[in-house]
Amino acid sequence: MAQVVLENIYKSFPRRQGERVDRPTPKSEHAETADPGSTTTVNVLRRITLTVADGEFMVLVGPSGCGKSTLLRLIAGLEPPTGGNIWVGDRLVNPLPPKQRDIAMVFQSYALYPHMTVYDNLAFGLRRTRRKGWGDEGRGRGGEGLKHYLPKSIRAWLEQERAIDHRIHTVAQMLQIEELLDRFPKQLSGGQKQRVALGRAMARNPQVFLMDEPLSNLDAKLRTETRTQIVNLQRKLGTTTIYVTHDQTEAMTMGDRIAVMNAGQIQQVARPLDLYNHPANRFVAEFIGSPPMNFLSVQVKAPLLIQHSHFRLTLPEGWESRLQPHDGRSLTLGIRPEHLIISPPAPKNLPVRVERVEALGSETYLTVRPTEMTETEIEIREASPLQVRIEPDRPVVIGETIWLAVSPDKIHLFDPASREAIV
Ligand SMILES: Nc1ncnc2c1ncn2[C@@H]1O[C@H](COP(=O)(O)OP(=O)(O)OP(=O)(O)O)[C@@H](O)[C@H]1O
Ligand SMILES: [Mg+2]
Repeated sequence: MAQVVLENIYKSFPRRQGERVDRPTPKSEHAETADPGSTTTVNVLRRITLTVADGEFMVLVGPSGCGKSTLLRLIAGLEPPTGGNIWVGDRLVNPLPPKQRDIAMVFQSYALYPHMTVYDNLAFGLRRTRRKGWGDEGRGRGGEGLKHYLPKSIRAWLEQERAIDHRIHTVAQMLQIEELLDRFPKQLSGGQKQRVALGRAMARNPQVFLMDEPLSNLDAKLRTETRTQIVNLQRKLGTTTIYVTHDQTEAMTMGDRIAVMNAGQIQQVARPLDLYNHPANRFVAEFIGSPPMNFLSVQVKAPLLIQHSHFRLTLPEGWESRLQPHDGRSLTLGIRPEHLIISPPAPKNLPVRVERVEALGSETYLTVRPTEMTETEIEIREASPLQVRIEPDRPVVIGETIWLAVSPDKIHLFDPASREAIV
């Protein structure tokens, strides 16, 4: 097994005729182009620096088109980087072709050989890349006496086939596809095919697994099951894994750490709950968590007061030094749906009108809009809706006005210009 190190990776593709010149760039201050002034290339990855530890399960997550697959293809060697270095263990693999990198990749569309049985699909890669030490695995399974009289080359081949057989059965057992070994791909369901594709990568026992949205063709139930299987297998095998998904639930439940990408750049790398609790910028805050974090514009009044048009809040003392530089300025307050609590009317609470109620059984989500209390009636101001999570047994009706307490120790503050978190 090995760690994977990405050092300042850039990737640009030649621009095709008629393609638009401007590319989406992140609104963070880190945005810059790989080759300034160039009008003939599309910059897809910029300044990617990441260390995936030996045996770690790293998830790359980000919206469609942010460069996740491109990054995996660079690591696998299917595409050369425009700049930067890629290390697998202590080897700089930039000059090496895919075969010599000792990396197995599983794609979203599993390409099995249709004319081969599941067994032979699994064995195919093994027969091509026999690894040291495999001869030992199948020992002690009979035939020792006869082997003694066979030519050396046949003995070696038998030894190898036996090791391969042992390995295939081990992997097939782990993935619960043992009873499918004699079938052809066309006789398998989508989920079974996907597991065979995973098995083929695992059987090779590579230094690194790269998986590009391997579950996206599966139905919800099978997806959850296979997700657990992959995580368990990875733990058992201890193989360094980089797993691409655009599904934040998959990222949160599978990764030892998550690298959040947007517009060709890494936004933040952290353990799942650290990412959730301490997002580095608004993009991460919004992308991780479902429904996403709510944002409100507030004014800072040092030392600890935050004023919104509808409520005012005193923050815990720990905020003092962080708020001081922003005294009198506008900041963006972020608060997650579960940290807005239905409470009695009070100046520190936010009055809202309920617009939608989604009762899921285990919990209920409300879509609400801040309202203005006047002498005579409640007036709805033009304000963006907010998402609130409440207990399922709390009765709420559409059109009702409720008051929400904003938990001061759960808020996040962001600079509206740079979109970076105030830390
Ligand atoms: N060979 C290529 N030539 C030109 N542009 C490319 C090429 N391959 C990818 N791109 C562009 O690079 C960007 C990133 O693509 P990539 O496939 O890496 O995204 P992704 O994050 O994997 O998206 P998805 O979640 O949809 O799979 C896209 O804008 C894509 O159009
Ligand atoms: Mg992709």
